[in-house]
Amino acid sequence: MHTGDGQPNLQGPAASFWADALAQWAVPEEILAAAPESPWGFPTALFVQNARRALEGPPTPTHRRVAEALPEAGVLLDVGAGAGAASLPVAPRDGRLVALDQHREMLTALADLARSLDRTFDLELVEGKWPDTAHEVATVDVALCANVAYNVADVSTFLTALTNAARHRVVVELSASHPQSPLSPLWQHFWGLNRPDRPTADDAIAVVREVIGVAPGVERWQRRSSFMGERGPDTANWVRQRLCLPPSREPEVATLLGRMGDLAPPEAVTLWWSGGASVRQ
Ligand SMILES: C[S@@+](CC[C@H](N)C(=O)[O-])C[C@H]1O[C@@H](n2cnc3c(N)ncnc32)[C@H](O)[C@@H]1O
Repeated sequence: MHTGDGQPNLQGPAASFWADALAQWAVPEEILAAAPESPWGFPTALFVQNARRALEGPPTPTHRRVAEALPEAGVLLDVGAGAGAASLPVAPRDGRLVALDQHREMLTALADLARSLDRTFDLELVEGKWPDTAHEVATVDVALCANVAYNVADVSTFLTALTNAARHRVVVELSASHPQSPLSPLWQHFWGLNRPDRPTADDAIAVVREVIGVAPGVERWQRRSSFMGERGPDTANWVRQRLCLPPSREPEVATLLGRMGDLAPPEAVTLWWSGGASVRQ
């Protein structure tokens, strides 16, 4: 076990592979330089839509794995919480939800949704980047992180901090393949650019084995609705921006989108393992 002992984590082959494979997803400088606006970021409204759907729909495997490990009136940490799709449906009754995100507007949206629920729990908002902000979070019962892993190059430090934060369980949800992979044919079409096909959730499992020293529980499942929201009038616009193209290319993007399936990988994977924090109050 490489956690909870205060020792620094050495980057093993699986964690190094993860970082190197993620780096291959970088958009080449010359394409970025041509971009009329930033290709990064998602509208907060998209994540609010996802959180509303999660609150209305049946529990996902991620919700179930969190709920079964949360004690009564327990404490749940959601890292990269967004608007709360992964945590609000399982916020511990009479307990506490600690929602951590680097973007304030996501936390504000999550707090608004939390107020609309007929369930009492304390909500603690932590604005900042994980694991830099890990010291601001007291030990929790369950540490959850959904749909963030593909943003994290140093996944070893990230997962170790999650494990150290949790008394009972860590739950991580990620897409089976990189969330941007459905757009790969469009990169090829517009820029002649081959996008990578790694890392995948299997690579994340290898990192957990290497860094945490355990084989995580694994459940693969199909999302009921697209992680990228419903197709709408804005879809061609944000895809065009993501592809670093000028507005004049939007009709072409729209035509190609009409022939494509889901803009997010439909298969999700939920991983879970035991927390590494000792019981302390
Ligand atoms: C794709 S969204 C997922 C939101 C939510 N967990 C869900 O499943 O709907 C990723 C979120 O993670 C946040 N995020 C990404 N990296 C982060 C980090 N290192 N620390 C804190 N927040 C992070 C982003 O601001 C964004 O709100």
